[in-house]
Amino acid sequence: MQKVRNPNIREILEKDDLTEEQIGDVVTLFLQSVKKGTWKTQGWPKVWTDYAISKLALNAYSRVLAKRFQGSNISVNCFCPGFTQTSMTSGKGTHSADEAAQIGVQLMLLPPQELPTGQVLYRIWPFC
Ligand SMILES: NC(=O)c1ccc[n+]([C@@H]2O[C@H](COP(=O)([O-])OP(=O)(O)OC[C@H]3O[C@@H](n4cnc5c(N)ncnc54)[C@H](OP(=O)(O)O)[C@@H]3O)[C@@H](O)[C@H]2O)c1
Repeated sequence: MQKVRNPNIREILEKDDLTEEQIGDVVTLFLQSVKKGTWKTQGWPKVWTDYAISKLALNAYSRVLAKRFQGSNISVNCFCPGFTQTSMTSGKGTHSADEAAQIGVQLMLLPPQELPTGQVLYRIWPFC
């Protein structure tokens, strides 16, 4: 979220009562500004912009779902594996896909009451 320099967009995505429609509106706004060629001056993330927007939307959506399922023993989080050796990185990275997957699976197998919800979790333990 720190990468978004436009305060209006940050304000929408950080709302406690954020909705799926509002996330869609933010993505649509980004796509429109790309079509118009104005995105560089509108405070979107500067680096890997399209990738960053997709992750912003995903993280925001996981918060919406986490809130929806609060109290039902279902945790909804995003898991960031860190710089991992996969096709996406052309095999570069600090660890293998298997190592990243092991942590992801460990997280998934935790009892829901031991997991936070609505968070972005990184591969470094403890997650904080
Ligand atoms: N690698 C990293 O350093 C890193 C760091 C942070 C976050 N991540 C995130 O981790 C996730 C996995 O990344 P990765 O590094 O494993 O990437 P990857 O090696 O490029 O693998 C991406 C996987 O997604 C599948 N895929 C792509 N588009 C799809 C679609 N439209 N429908 C269904 N499947 C689709 C691909 O299937 P095919 O093989 O059939 O094309 C492939 O199996 C991504 O969300 C990435 O942003 C990765």
